[in-house]
Amino acid sequence: MQPARTDIAARAAAVISDYRGLEGPLLPILHGLQEEFGYVPQETYQLIAEELNLSRAEVYGVVSFYHDFRKAPAGRHVLKLCQAEACQSMGSDQVAAKIRRLLGIDFHETAADGSVTLEPVYCLGLCACSPSAMLDGELIGRVGDDEIDSMLEVIRT
Ligand code: FES
Repeated sequence: MQPARTDIAARAAAVISDYRGLEGPLLPILHGLQEEFGYVPQETYQLIAEELNLSRAEVYGVVSFYHDFRKAPAGRHVLKLCQAEACQSMGSDQVAAKIRRLLGIDFHETAADGSVTLEPVYCLGLCACSPSAMLDGELIGRVGDDEIDSMLEVIRT
């Protein structure tokens, strides 16, 4: 269930006040909000803008620019597929294409049933076992058809 608007405002104000004294506070605030809510709620853009003397559009621009920031809550599962060089050389493109086709979503999207959010990631530190993935924080190396089947089974349960 999503938090009520007033709840969002109060929790966001607390996060903003934790970071607003820093030099260059916008990114720390956005990271803090994402940690608090799991995404950066639209309702917080105006609040941030007022606190940092920015326009709402400037805040929105930064949230949109960095793909790490979610504009909506993630799905029940989060699947990250490494798209960095070592994994690319071991076929991460094909893995991603297959998973996107099977899930019916692209990177940065959440399945309509809310089951999964798919995200690219640029090195999981598991290059020796490329291509790599991370499902709900668990690293998976040498992703092939069997690993894809296992991940989809988890996602669909
Ligand atoms: S490049 Fe994929 S884990 Fe390092």
